[in-house]
Parts: sequence; structure tokens; C-alpha cells
Amino acid sequence: MKKIVVSLFILLIMCGCSKDYKFSKLGYSDEEIAAINTLSEENRDLFLKGYNETLINLVTNKQFKEENLDEYLKFRNDFNDEYLFYLVNENIVNDENFEKILIISKDPYFILEKTSEYLEFYGKYMNLRTLVEAVNSLSCYEQYSKEIAADTSKNYLVLVNKFYTLDKNYEPDDLVEVDKKYTKYSLKLRKECYEAYIRMYEDGLEEGLDLSINSAYRNWQLQYDSYNRFLTIDPQNVVDTYSARPGHSEHQTGLAIDIISEGSNFDTFQYTDEAKWMADNCDKYGFIIRYTDEKKDVTLYKGEAWQVRYVGDEATKIKESGLTFDEYYAYYLEK
Ligand code: DAL
Repeated sequence: MKKIVVSLFILLIMCGCSKDYKFSKLGYSDEEIAAINTLSEENRDLFLKGYNETLINLVTNKQFKEENLDEYLKFRNDFNDEYLFYLVNENIVNDENFEKILIISKDPYFILEKTSEYLEFYGKYMNLRTLVEAVNSLSCYEQYSKEIAADTSKNYLVLVNKFYTLDKNYEPDDLVEVDKKYTKYSLKLRKECYEAYIRMYEDGLEEGLDLSINSAYRNWQLQYDSYNRFLTIDPQNVVDTYSARPGHSEHQTGLAIDIISEGSNFDTFQYTDEAKWMADNCDKYGFIIRYTDEKKDVTLYKGEAWQVRYVGDEATKIKESGLTFDEYYAYYLEK
């Protein structure tokens, strides 16, 4: 009897070892074999058919739960790993809205964490692109209905808009005076932004263009005064299309510049050679055109051919993405 038990024991060990040997022969590493060996016998056998990269990627992922294996396999072609594990582990794949989520997730700028908002606004936009655009930029909400503290630690990439706000006392600590060569007014800008502007100005000059700064850094109080002055001219719903409420203006970051040219004004600048050149070239100096008519429903401002925003090295990537800075921020920078 004892002999039989011992023999059975040895046989069992040999079977186990021989399976490990087979895994190893198929190309699985020791670490991978250790992960496979945490599975049930039946699931382990799936690995015996040959080296299976998909399966091994699943079982070695920290989020892997064996009871969800079938669902990971079912949806693995629809999502990248991060989404796959989240959607399966949170059982969203069995949610009544999952068909809609599958559709929405096809948008290139789908953000997983915004899934419930996409669902909330689903059907309220013309198409998938405009839905994702609106949710990512927050323009799906009533303007000023949210107050999110702007993250100034993002430095040149800080986002300030009708939802992201700067403290009343926020003032950048590297403001410098703008030389009268570049403006008729007494203005300040953040140092790096100012230096980039000078490079753009000098290159523009060589092209025969005449750029002139009309407005630059505006502190909270100045923005307050300016917004309230506009309210004596236009009704608030109109003012809100061209002037930011205090705490919500990019001018308070010291990174926004209003630029026009000699002989032009805010109405005519967009038709000048200067405006065309700036739109085509400002990214080379670290600037983006912040508001365009084309995207006025996303930025919640009318187009402003004159307002550039310094963002530094990412300017060309932002321009080429075709996204507003609001959407770009949500997709690439917020996390
Ligand atoms: N003109 C822009 C929107 C501002 O007031 O900041």
C-alpha cells in the first residue's frame, strides 16, 4: 500500500515536471511558467498547443483574474490591455450600455475614465467625433458650471478655460517687461514666452511682416475690469463669446499674447499677411492659435486670429493633432 502511494506521488510530480518541461520547450520563460502554474489544469492545457503570446500577455498582467479569462479572450481585439482589464474586471462588458461603449471607444480620443459622461451625452451630438470632442473639452456642460483649479504645475502646458480657473492671487514669478520695440503699451509676459515671441517677431520682420503686441499678461483685477467694461457695451451672453471672466483668462498665465499688425484691428487682423503667417508658423516658436471659428463650439469662444498661447515644445504636436488645447489637455496631459 505504502509503495503504491509513493509511486502515485512520484508519478504526480513527474507529470507536473513534464508539463513544465513542455512549456519550457515551447518557449515559455520560468516566470511565464510560474504564472501559468497558478491556473487550473484545464486553463494550463491551453498553453500546451504552442507558444501563445496573447494568452501569456493576459495571465502575466497584474490585473488578470482567472475567472474572467473567457471574457478577456472575447474582447481582446476590441480594446488595448488597459481598457480590456478595466472593462472586464469592472463587469462593464455586461452593462446594458456596453454596445454603445464599444462604438464610442472607436474614437481615437476616447478616454476610458469619461465613459459615463459619453453615455450621458450620447445621442445629443451629431456624431461620435463631436460627442467625444464635447465631453473631453467639457463643452458638453453649461459654461462656467464647473470650477476646476488650473494645474499650474504643468507650467507652459497649464490649461485655463471656462472650467479651469486660476486663483485670484495667482501671478507667475518670472514675468518680464515687454520692450517698447514690440508694443505701444506697458506689458509683461513670462520670460520664456517673451523670448519665443522675440524670435517669432524677428523672423516675421525678415519676411516683411510687422507684428505688434496689443495685450499680454493680465492679472485677475485687470481681467475683471476688462470683462465688466465689455458688459457695459454688450449683453453677457455676447461678452462671454469673446472675453473670459476673471480667473478664467489665459492672459493671467502670462503665456497668452494678443498680436495685431500696424493698421489692423481685431476685426481686420485675420485678413492680413501677418495673421496668415502667424497661423502657419507660430508653432515653430512654441505658440498655438488658441481660438478658431471652426472650433468655437469646443473652446466656447469665437475665433481670435490674434491670440496666441505659448505652450513650448509641444506646439507642433498640438497643431498637427487638429485638437483644441482643451481636448489635447484632456487626452494627453491631464493624468
Ligand atoms: N479674449 C480671451 C478669451 C480672454 O479674455 O482671455
